[in-house]
Amino acid sequence: MSILVTGAAGFIGSNFVLDWLRGCDEPVISLDKLTYAGNLQNLASLQGDARHTFVLGDICDRALVDSLLTTHQPRAIVHFAAESHVDRSIHGPGEFMRTNIDGTFTLLEAARGYWSALEGEAKAAFRFHHVSTDEVYGSLKPNDPPFTETNTYEPNSPYSASKAASDHLVRAWHHTYGLPVTTSNCSNNYGPYHFPEKLIPLIIANALAGKSLPIYGDGQQIRDWLYVTDHCSAIRAVLAKGRVGEVYNVGGWNEMPNLQIVHTLCDLLDELSPAASGKSYREQITYVTDRPGHDRRYAIDARKIERELGWRPAETFDTGIRKTVQWYLANQDWVANVLSGAYREWLETNYASRS
Ligand code: NAD
Ligand code: DAU
Repeated sequence: MSILVTGAAGFIGSNFVLDWLRGCDEPVISLDKLTYAGNLQNLASLQGDARHTFVLGDICDRALVDSLLTTHQPRAIVHFAAESHVDRSIHGPGEFMRTNIDGTFTLLEAARGYWSALEGEAKAAFRFHHVSTDEVYGSLKPNDPPFTETNTYEPNSPYSASKAASDHLVRAWHHTYGLPVTTSNCSNNYGPYHFPEKLIPLIIANALAGKSLPIYGDGQQIRDWLYVTDHCSAIRAVLAKGRVGEVYNVGGWNEMPNLQIVHTLCDLLDELSPAASGKSYREQITYVTDRPGHDRRYAIDARKIERELGWRPAETFDTGIRKTVQWYLANQDWVANVLSGAYREWLETNYASRS
């Protein structure tokens, strides 16, 4: 038995694969195009591990996906691969439509062909798990209840619209063809291997580099933060026990305005790695022009996954954010490599000599 994981060299995908292989010996086939956000260094600890196969490739490549399914006969596909950054989707939405919509369509069609030909127990056990986001539900007003699985879809950015489209495809492939799918819609993740274009790793990297800490608009936008390994355990729970065709919202019960997040990061850095100047990192905070169409508030009602699957986050925000800052302080080479683009040269070194 094995599982196929798409987007496995990205932030959440790599945490998922590392966690999976820490917890069991079931092999993982990782498929990743290694875009700017994919980093094989995240999976470096698995080099030489017979349980892990890395495949460089595009989820839009039907022939490749077909051949991986035929060769490895996975019992499940866990689909993380996506363009994931809202700001990039505003500057250039094309790649988001291609990967997030066409890519999911290609995977669904390949999975349908593969699953249709399975028989007996293998057919009954097969799952396609789609990893999605709370952003598909749109923006909450201050007193609105958190998003449940029955909220209407009101995506506001090109990114969230492309993810919403992919969710609809997954739903339709179950409804029409019977493909055994599950979907999870998760809130903002943070933790190790988070690409430093996103708020938390960007603030840590900029603070340590003496750069300004950009706050979009008034900094009072609210997100519901979840430590990444808690998202991974939620996906494992859905894969193991989730009901076919169901959607599960995943979140940390942890709503916080951006400015409070940045203050917390500055205070932790003041404690763990004080600036040579003796000044607080808070002095580097700068207010900048807001993101166009910026969603004001997200919050997840995670009672369904708790009730049905017994999942709850293991980390509080206090424990998770401290671990995160400590990880970034201990892995400044990783950040430097990402920021300099050096990790992409490793790709050339690793693949140039391979047929
Ligand atoms: P990421 O940008 O860090 O990683 C995405 C990965 O997908 C990269 O390794 C990239 O190389 C790969 N990829 C991109 N296009 C590809 C293609 N065409 N073929 C194969 N691989 C491709 O993203 P992330 O933050 O790890 O998010 C993973 C998934 O989780 C996404 O689907 C995202 O929508 C969802 N999600 C993310 C968050 C969050 O807070 N980061 C929250 C909820 C849901
Ligand atoms: O809610 C889940 C989503 O969370 C995922 O689906 C996305 O893939 C993921 O990128 C994340 O989206 P956000 O837009 O919420 O994350 P980001 O880290 O880009 O921004 C978090 C908040 O911080 C948001 O309100 C914008 C703000 N921000 C961000 C950056 C990069 C700033 O104020 N300054 C910044 O420099």
